[in-house]
Amino acid sequence: MGERSIRIRVPGTSANCGPGFDSLGLACTVYNELTLSLTHEPRLDIKVTGEGAADIPVDERNMVWRSVQYLLEQAQEEDHFQGCIMRMENHIPLSRGLGSSAAAIVAGLRAANVLIDNRFNRREIMQFATELEGHPDNVGPAIFGGFTVSIVNNGKVDTCSFLPKVKLKLVAAVPDFPLDTKLARQALPEVIPFKDAVFNVGHASMLVAALCRGNERYLRHSLTDAMHQNYRAKLIPGLQEVFRMARYAGALGAVISGAGPTIRAFVLERDQCASAVADAMVAGFAQNGVKANALVLDVDTKGAHIVNEWT
Ligand code: HSE
Repeated sequence: MGERSIRIRVPGTSANCGPGFDSLGLACTVYNELTLSLTHEPRLDIKVTGEGAADIPVDERNMVWRSVQYLLEQAQEEDHFQGCIMRMENHIPLSRGLGSSAAAIVAGLRAANVLIDNRFNRREIMQFATELEGHPDNVGPAIFGGFTVSIVNNGKVDTCSFLPKVKLKLVAAVPDFPLDTKLARQALPEVIPFKDAVFNVGHASMLVAALCRGNERYLRHSLTDAMHQNYRAKLIPGLQEVFRMARYAGALGAVISGAGPTIRAFVLERDQCASAVADAMVAGFAQNGVKANALVLDVDTKGAHIVNEWT
């Protein structure tokens, strides 16, 4: 590796959490790790192992490298550092709605920031990450961990993060096909009925209140959406069935994870039914001709963090 190296770990995330379209997000215990050192000469030595390794470009198009460059430009260091040596070990499934692109962006920004002596604070990193990703709901929990609420005013992002008061298991049923977020956004209408907007304002607000207060009953009631999930159902075969089967097996509720195709169930830890919910969700997909793999995860409490640093 080059002169000074940093190893950083970034969690996977679920955006939207049902009603909180483009605003709410939750970090979970599946991680990508990045080892980075910057070079003065213009060279790119990028190697990727694990999830999506065959599909991730290892040239100028690489998302982590683009984020590193973005950070260097903000610090006016792009002439000083023109290349990098980078190793990515990925465990977050690619293009499945589990925040793999947010993790790449956050890893690049955070790691490069450490290598230029933490010129920017986490709020500034959050702003850069939102500019690169286009919306704040995945990058928020990837940076801060836990559950995040983000809003954007005139391009400026504000993010609140907190740890849910309810002890949760998160079950992700991950189909074996990718879904491009752009395509999943094209499935949405330009306008929605006023009553659907009202429904989502109430449900998203209640979801946050229930997680803050530890109110399990209201949490169960708030995991529904009228804004995006139904429009995306045609892109995720078996969506309603997997929702139903997850609830039947004991989940509080289930939602599309981000733009999909992963479906995320919220389970109370003390109900001890996470593996039954996982089996039910995989079976629900199978009944609709979709092969899926289930991950039983916890809420990540740390967000992106440094694992190691050496010279
Ligand atoms: N909020 C975004 C969407 C998440 O649902 O399109 C995708 O990363």
